[in-house]
Amino acid sequence: MYAAFRSIGAYVPTKVLTNEELSKMVDTTDEWITKRTGIKERRIAAVNETTSDMAVKAAEKAIERSGIKKEDIDMIVVATISPDYFNMPSTATVVAHKMGLDKVTAFDISAACTGFIYVLSIAKAFIESGMKKNVLIIGAEKMSAITDYTDRGTCILFGDGAGAAVICATEDKSEAITDLHTAADGSLGDFLMTPDGGTGNPHQAELKAEASFIQMKGNETFKIAVRTLTNDVVEILADNNTKASDIKHFIPHQANYRIIKAVGDALKLEKEQVVLTVHKYGNTSGASIPMAMNDLYEEGKLEKGDLMLLDAFGGGLTWGSALLPFAGK
Ligand SMILES: CC(C)(COP(=O)(O)OP(=O)(O)OC[C@H]1O[C@@H](n2cnc3c(N)ncnc32)[C@H](O)[C@@H]1OP(=O)(O)O)[C@@H](O)C(=O)NCCC(=O)NCCS
Repeated sequence: MYAAFRSIGAYVPTKVLTNEELSKMVDTTDEWITKRTGIKERRIAAVNETTSDMAVKAAEKAIERSGIKKEDIDMIVVATISPDYFNMPSTATVVAHKMGLDKVTAFDISAACTGFIYVLSIAKAFIESGMKKNVLIIGAEKMSAITDYTDRGTCILFGDGAGAAVICATEDKSEAITDLHTAADGSLGDFLMTPDGGTGNPHQAELKAEASFIQMKGNETFKIAVRTLTNDVVEILADNNTKASDIKHFIPHQANYRIIKAVGDALKLEKEQVVLTVHKYGNTSGASIPMAMNDLYEEGKLEKGDLMLLDAFGGGLTWGSALLPFAGK
């Protein structure tokens, strides 16, 4: 049995936060943000809109496009670092309940911006082992809830949204997810972190609200992201005897245009091969790859059989890549 990437869906909040608006909140300019990140605007969820609300909307679209019935979903895995509740219940169980799927296996995983690659690897493993048949994977983030809007080093980067995909069992090898890499280096955990909210910090009561916001060593993260991702994508292509020119769509995690360009240039990819949404959504962490893929799909540019290369890098530190054909109905 193989695992096929059957369908994609996404949800994008309506409120837009532009660089101009941010430049009135912190000491920055549209020119600086555009030049250093490629971001022009990002979406912000409504105050009462939760991560699970966005996840459900993305999931409903993905299921509608998958050719399977909602009731045939047997597992839901959500990648998020901005869950509805930090300890329990998991966002995946909230999503399952909101969708009327109370008997499925449901859990969250925490791999920050690499979350979607991690949930994809989990879906593949469960399907290939024969344990599950139709897995709903979701990357959903309300990053605005954990972002410090007085810190110009981070608040310019992040946005909200959700993306979802249905991964199905298939006997057709041409539909199979080809390969996946997932990795982590915990020694660099302090490059990107939210220090509050866990047993890792013994001084909970004394912490200020800012401690639950993202703290980032931006420049150090940037350099290691470029180096690590470049090596990783070269490796996954070589391992699978695939040339960069065989890739129809390179769909990278949308953190910074300069990171995407550096990796694309290292592979000598043409502009048409590289999917870019960072200018309009910013960095939506675990949601960014499926949101970008959904845009491609809705523009009519993603067709059955198209070979996709995904890559991502984020807190943990974690990183990964995936090589797979789109197996849409
Ligand atoms: C955050 C990031 C855009 C900063 O860009 P950079 O080129 O590395 O910039 P630096 O952090 O070296 O800062 C350069 C200068 O710009 C300033 N600066 C930082 N943010 C600024 C902002 N929003 N507006 C204006 N100036 C800013 C810094 O204070 C620094 O000033 P100094 O030289 O006087 O000290 C970039 O490092 C990045 O994208 N990092 C990776 C982020 C990421 O991918 N995170 C998630 C993992 S996926």
